[in-house]
Amino acid sequence: MEHIRSIEELAHWKSKEREKKTGFVPTMGALHVGHLSLVRLSQSISDRTLVSIYVNPTQFNKAEDLAAYPDTLEADLRALEALGCDAVFLPSAQMLYPDGLKSRRFDFNQLDHSMEGAGRPGHFEGMATVVTRFFELIEPDFAVFGEKDYQQLSIIKQVVTKEGWPVEIVPAGIFREADGLAMSSRNMRLLPDEREDAAQIFAILSTRISRLNLQETSPKAFANQCTEALNAVPSIQVDYVSCCDAATLQQVDEFNTARSTRVFAAVQCGKVRLIDNLPLF
Ligand code: PAJ
Repeated sequence: MEHIRSIEELAHWKSKEREKKTGFVPTMGALHVGHLSLVRLSQSISDRTLVSIYVNPTQFNKAEDLAAYPDTLEADLRALEALGCDAVFLPSAQMLYPDGLKSRRFDFNQLDHSMEGAGRPGHFEGMATVVTRFFELIEPDFAVFGEKDYQQLSIIKQVVTKEGWPVEIVPAGIFREADGLAMSSRNMRLLPDEREDAAQIFAILSTRISRLNLQETSPKAFANQCTEALNAVPSIQVDYVSCCDAATLQQVDEFNTARSTRVFAAVQCGKVRLIDNLPLF
């Protein structure tokens, strides 16, 4: 696996086998099996895969979150090597932000107004700034994003369409622990009791979905029932539970099975904020 640390090394790697279809998996490191499933997906659809590891300062709105972000580079490199990943890109801030750590402006067509966008101002601009800079430098044919961060995936699809980036955005399903908890680098910060409670996020949402009667229950009532059940779990405090149109991410007032709809949840579990989402139909 090649370790690419400069624009020149990247240009050289790109020029080596130009005819090869390149898959790109952006990450912030602290890799877990969920990330690795994205790498495998990229490998299955492209000729060569490049993974970036870069903790992007502009998408953090709290300095302490950025400072506390786990750094497990040695283990990350070993895991990627073991998978047969072709290249890892380890850029510096200077390479990505030659004019300083500033976000670009975007028109996200309101996809950033709800959920994670509402509570984390500037987060999606920072994320989209670094991702489009990666597209510019790497020029991938495919880029893989996890449905774990469904709003991020939707926003990137919108930016690619609106700005005409020649890259295909490939969604990857949510990779879960055996008890259903969506894998996240934050899970390792949960205390043992909290870790057990965190499994209730998937358990409660999936059970309620399987029992959902679309004729008798409104989206609001369904979200309220999920919120109540989640808040009854000792370490969990709900931030939001919301039923949204899968394309527009707008909250729905009525269920309409002709439009794909998902339930989104963000909770505080002890000191750790966790997000998840599941399809309703
Ligand atoms: P990071 O949080 O490291 O996630 C990298 C990718 O892994 C994202 O596409 C995310 O959705 C995906 N992912 C994380 N956990 C997953 C799981 N359990 N199942 C499936 N996919 C999962 O997301 C970012 O980094 C950054 O915002 C980034 C896109 C790299 C830009 O800085």
